[in-house]
Amino acid sequence: MTSWGCTSVEGGLGERAVARCDQLGVPPFSERADQLTRRYLTPAHAASLEALRRWMREAGMSVRCDGAANLVGRYEGLAAGAPALLIGSHIDTVRAAGRYDGALGVLLGIDCVDALSRARRRLPFAVEVIAFGDEEGSRFPTSMTCSRAVAGTVDPGLLAMRDADGLNLDEARAAFAEPLGPIAAAARAPGDVLAYLEAHIEQGPVLEARGLPVGVVTAIAAQKRLRLTITGVAGHAGTTPMSLRRDPGPAAAEAILLIERICGGSEDLVGTVGRIEARPGAYNVIPGSVEFTIDIRAPISSARDVALESILAGVEAIVARRGLGLSIELVQDLPESPSDPALTAMLEAAVRSTGVAPLRLASGAAHDAMVMAALCPTAMLFIRCKAGVSHNPAESVDPADAAVAARAMLAFIDALADTPAGAPRRSA
Ligand code: GLV
Ligand code: MN
Ligand code: MN
Repeated sequence: MTSWGCTSVEGGLGERAVARCDQLGVPPFSERADQLTRRYLTPAHAASLEALRRWMREAGMSVRCDGAANLVGRYEGLAAGAPALLIGSHIDTVRAAGRYDGALGVLLGIDCVDALSRARRRLPFAVEVIAFGDEEGSRFPTSMTCSRAVAGTVDPGLLAMRDADGLNLDEARAAFAEPLGPIAAAARAPGDVLAYLEAHIEQGPVLEARGLPVGVVTAIAAQKRLRLTITGVAGHAGTTPMSLRRDPGPAAAEAILLIERICGGSEDLVGTVGRIEARPGAYNVIPGSVEFTIDIRAPISSARDVALESILAGVEAIVARRGLGLSIELVQDLPESPSDPALTAMLEAAVRSTGVAPLRLASGAAHDAMVMAALCPTAMLFIRCKAGVSHNPAESVDPADAAVAARAMLAFIDALADTPAGAPRRSA
């Protein structure tokens, strides 16, 4: 019988990773006591790096913090300086998060290295565990800043982006508890990296429905993030007759319903307005502008883009009919990211070796793996989470499932070590 949740800090491989995620779920590892929120470059982020640094060192790794505030633990191979298998995920969270999204993948990586180090096992390659600092984009408008830095695809313009308090990325970096080198120095040379493996909770209901603890990811969906601002005329809520208003609020409402209608028309398409703000924002003021975000995803970029074109054409028609202004800003464009076929087959065999049938499934959620694919071949392992609930404090993982994940990851590492020259590099 499945027993969800975990309170013990002891326990075997994987189980301990879940317990450590639970430890990181409260202050000082969270910005707030009433909910888990750990955004990039906050004191809560710095505190979590302290805990991770200790756990990485205990597992036999040397540890450094790179220019993007990623914590990187390295377990050398048979020869010092060998190319590395990177095992990673992110340590930042959304606001009011669950405890396992991202953190579990990092802690499973530490558990795997701990197992290698206890067995005094050195491999033909180094193993590095990496805790990315910003995958969610919950502080700054774009996400994946930290894996972009490692993949060498960070746009220098990102340094100018601002958080809700008006602080730009460069200022937030300067205020961080750890001294950070240049962000560009976080980039890895392709020759130094063998592959990237990420374990992550599924954040969906498929594994639970199939009665499986883990699954193998075939591809990650394409995603775009946009910011739209509809402008009208601010005015007095008591004196301006309805017929004489140029109120962007109802236009935004129409736009949101349009997004729901268009994205609801296809199984594979999802569209979300996750943030909406009326300005100046008062009971008694007709807003002068309304800003809202769009997050739109589909398995392939072309399907996403066709839907987005109809959405934007529809929003333009709505604002024109109402005599309002519109500005559209594309904040982020992530194309779909297929996992590497050879690594995926290796991961499937590793899952099978734990006695679990390896189910292949696609990811609707974005992951650092999709950015790391620009640097090296990638593979992803999903772990069942209760009812598929995620981005929600109710997120729950069975420690026994995390134990299966750890065993599969170690079997994957073994298989990679048995591969001639220790490396698949990138499959054609
Ligand atoms: C991250 O969790 C995302 O899918 O946006
Ligand atoms: Mn997330
Ligand atoms: Mn995540």
